[in-house]
Parts: sequence; structure tokens; C-alpha cells
Amino acid sequence: MEETKGRNYYVRQLMKSMSHYRFQFVMSIIVKAISMSAPFLSFYFMAQLVDFDNGVFQIKALLLFVTVLIGVIFSYLDTYVSHKMSFGIVRDLRDRCYEKIERIIPSSNHRSLGDYEKIVNGDVDVFEWFYAHILVEWIATVATIALGLAAVFYVNRLSLVICIITILLITFLPCIKTKQAEEKGYELRNYGGALNAAIIDGILGVKDILTNNYKHEYMLGLMEKSRQFDKCREKYNRSGMNEKRITELVINLSALVIVLQLVLTNGAFDLKTILLLFLFSTNIYGTLQQTLRDGTNYGFVYGAAKRVYDLLNEEEVVKDNGNIVSIEDDRQKKWNLEVKNLSFKYPDTDKNVLQDLNFDAKANEIVALVAPSGSGKTTVANLLERFWDYETGEIYINSIELRKLKISALRKYISMVPQEIYLFNMSLADNLRLAKPDATREEMINACKMANAMGFINELPDGLDTVVGERGTKLSGGQKQRIAIAQAILRNTPIMIFDEATSSLDVAKEIEINDTLQKLKKDKVVLVIAHRKATIEMADRIVSLERAV
Ligand SMILES: Nc1ncnc2c1ncn2[C@@H]1O[C@H](COP(=O)(O)OP(=O)(O)OP(=O)(O)O)[C@@H](O)[C@H]1O
Ligand SMILES: [Mg+2]
Repeated sequence: MEETKGRNYYVRQLMKSMSHYRFQFVMSIIVKAISMSAPFLSFYFMAQLVDFDNGVFQIKALLLFVTVLIGVIFSYLDTYVSHKMSFGIVRDLRDRCYEKIERIIPSSNHRSLGDYEKIVNGDVDVFEWFYAHILVEWIATVATIALGLAAVFYVNRLSLVICIITILLITFLPCIKTKQAEEKGYELRNYGGALNAAIIDGILGVKDILTNNYKHEYMLGLMEKSRQFDKCREKYNRSGMNEKRITELVINLSALVIVLQLVLTNGAFDLKTILLLFLFSTNIYGTLQQTLRDGTNYGFVYGAAKRVYDLLNEEEVVKDNGNIVSIEDDRQKKWNLEVKNLSFKYPDTDKNVLQDLNFDAKANEIVALVAPSGSGKTTVANLLERFWDYETGEIYINSIELRKLKISALRKYISMVPQEIYLFNMSLADNLRLAKPDATREEMINACKMANAMGFINELPDGLDTVVGERGTKLSGGQKQRIAIAQAILRNTPIMIFDEATSSLDVAKEIEINDTLQKLKKDKVVLVIAHRKATIEMADRIVSLERAV
């Protein structure tokens, strides 16, 4: 049964994410409690110090000094331990979010890249606040208050009643506003995500914005998102500020009542009472106020938690339910691929992109998939990689249905040169090593030669060590395609898909690469998706996709 995701669910998840850090958590509480209670011990010894009739003055002074020192040391340790724990939890969650995103992005149509980025980076980062501050602080504050009240009881019992009433009053206010804070926090994080998405869109599409003169419209949209975010943030902050003001008012009134009560009952202050007032204003009320102030960020944390755990729970379009982890490389049988009665439509659309598609491809042959633009050629490649899932029809590799294979296993056997090439902002050699981490320099050079890339690489200032810029912007479209082909050659998988892999090359270079494909096809299934005559003609077989209507 699906769990109803109310508040408790997210709070439980926040606790669960801490399960590997239980030891550090307990340590944080102990250290925090010591650092927060050290002032009470100091208070005790200070009170003793002014009592000249009892005990040795020097020993009491030394003990006072030691407690002050303990307070300082543990305050430092407190920051160190709690942050070490919270950074660890945040790192783990960031990994989990990225892994999840990796599984859902290829088949995700509903969330923008900027919003994903905001979750992995921004929302997860907010958790640091929860684990290092709010949680440990709340627990330690309760302990500190208990100790503080004991100290008050020791000095003046009537003041104890006033303190308890004050504490109840200032704790009550944020508690009744929790639900509102959660809603506002979630809203705020969502507006933040939308704003981030708009910024990332603008950065990625900056050239289109400039060439198409969209700047005005884009800026208007961005300003609107920014305005919505600020409005929401202002409401959130205003509510926090109101709480802070009321809390301060209650604390000041309470101090006044305590003073009045002491004057009325005692007539004058003794030193112990002054110390008590000092302790209360700086420690108990201070600690409580700080904790409640941090607590106003709870709505923020809740909003971030809802976004993070909703992402981690998001249903994956592609189900990785297969359990076969390897395909026998049966040399007798040779590699083969079979597509049977395959139909497919994208979610939330009503027209099939592929309808009853049937074709097969065997080792030692090049099969060209041809069809007009928008007919579903890339969709076929994406289904072979299982970036999307199909419900009607089957795809077999060496007679094993794709869905019976673990996805990570399947991808060991397939390499694809995609229609849109993405290179990382590192050297060409490093980009090539992504395809084969242990590739030697010689292997890389050979692959580049086969991909007809060595000519331009030799002309680059640092050859293979040239850094290609973000998304490979320092290379031309055709150069990027040749690097992607070299990557596929390095991977050397038994099934290779080339999706318009030579579309940006001149005819002479395309023909040379076609020659390479002819050499590559030995013992491999090679699928080429192409519009160009030269590539279609060199294929051993042509499969035409009829657009489903
Ligand atoms: N993520 C998606 N969600 C919804 N529809 C999609 C998605 N991706 C592609 N489509 C639609 O599916 C159809 C086939 O797209 P596909 O990219 O497979 O075409 P193609 O044959 O590769 O075209 P081209 O030759 O232009 O590359 C198109 O009508 C496209 O609008
Ligand atoms: Mg395509």
C-alpha cells in the first residue's frame, strides 16, 4: 500500500537518512550538552566563589577556570562533530539524488534540468542546517533548560515558576505555526526551483536568445519568477521576524517580572541572585531564543525534505526488473538483434510514434534505419538503450528479451553515438577515457585515426590534451561527432548505434568514416540512422520506419 506522505513521513525520512551516523549523532548531543551546560557549572562555582565563609578560595577559582575552559573547548568540538556528521549525511543524500536522477532523466518530461539541479544542490544542502543545528540543538536545549531550571530552583523558587511560564509561552508560538511554516517553506523551495530552472535555461540557451532577439521576453519571464520568489521569501521571513519580536517581548517582560518579584520579596539583590539573572539572560533564554530562531528555518528544511524525498520516491518510468547480468557471447550463433511488433508512444501523448515495428540485424552487417524526420528513429535507439520503456512488442539480443537483462548489463553491450553530442569540459584524452578508462595513448590515437579525427587533433595546441570547453564548445559540430565516434570505437561493444553520427561532416569525411564502419562491423551488429545518401548506400540492409498515424 502506498504510504500517505504527510508531515510524519518526511520527518521519518530525515531521521532515516541519519541511520549510518548514529554514533556521530549521539556524540554530537553529548558534546553539545557539555558545551551548553558548562556555563551552569561556571555559575555554580561563581556562586561558591562569592561565598567567602566556605572552602578554599583558590580551589574554587581554579574549578571556575576549568569549567570556563571546558565550555570553550566543547563549543569548538560541538561545531566540528555536528558539522562532520551533517556534511556526511548531505554527501550521501546528494549521491542518492544523483543516482536517482540518472535513472529518471532520460525518460523525464515533467521536470526541468534547473529544478533537478536545485534539488541536488540547493535542497540537499539545506539539510545541513537540520542535522548540524536544529536537531542536535533542540535536544541539547531541553537538557540545558532542565539544568538551568534546577539552578534557578537552587537560588530562588518563585523565579522558577516565572521562568517555566516564560519558556512555555515562547515555545508555544512557533509550535502552533509549524504547519504554516512547512507550507510556506515548501512553496519557497518550489519557487526557488522554478527560478533556478529559468536561469539555467537562459544560460544554456544564451546564443538562441541573442540570435533571435528574445532577450526582452526572456528577461520579463525571469523577472517575474524572481519577483514571485522574493514575494514568497519576504512572507516567510516576515512571519519569522514577528515570532522573533514576540519572543523578545515575552523574555523582556519575564526578566522584568523576575526583578520585581525579587525586589518585592527580598528587598535587595544578593550576588547569587545577580548571577542567576545574568545566567538566565545569557544562557537559558539566549539558548532557547537561538534554538527557536533556528527553528524558524524548519519550514525551509521541511520544504527541501519534501522535494528531496519526493524525488527519491519518484516512480521510474523504466523498470529495472531484469536479473540477467550477462549475455553469452556465443561465437557460433553470432550477435543478433531482433525487434518484434514494437509499438511505442511517449507518456501523455495519444499517438504511437512506433507501430508494429519489425526488423532484425545480425553480426557482420550494417543496417540503416531510414525515415523522415520525426518518424521515431532516435526513439528506436532510445528504446534499445532502455532510456524509455515499451509495453507492446519485444526486443531481443541473442534471443534474450531486453527487459530480462539488468539495465547496467545491457549497456555493457551497446554503445551509441547520439544525435546530439555532449563532451565534458576536460581534455580530449579524458573524454575518450570515459569510454574506456584504461585506454592507452596508442589506443586513443588509433581510435581517433579510425574516426578520422587525428587530422584536426594534431592541429590543436595541445593535441589530445586540449581541453574542449563546456559541452565541447571549442570544437566544431563535425569534430565533436568524430570524437564521439572514437569513443564508440574505444568501447568496442558488440552492438553499435550511430544516430546521424556523420550529419555534420563533409561528404569526403563521411565516406572515410563509412569505410571505418565497414571494418568495424566484423562480429558486430551496426545500426546506422541516416538521411544522407552515402551512408544509406553503404549499408548492407535498409529498414524503413513507417510513421504511425
Ligand atoms: N520525450 C519525448 N516526449 C514526447 N514526445 C517525444 C519525445 N521525444 C520525441 N518525441 C516525439 O516522437 C517523435 C519521434 O521523435 P524521434 O526523435 O524519434 O524522431 P527522429 O526520427 O529521430 O527524427 P529526426 O530525424 O529529426 O532526428 C517526434 O514526433 C517527437 O516529437
Ligand atoms: Mg533523431
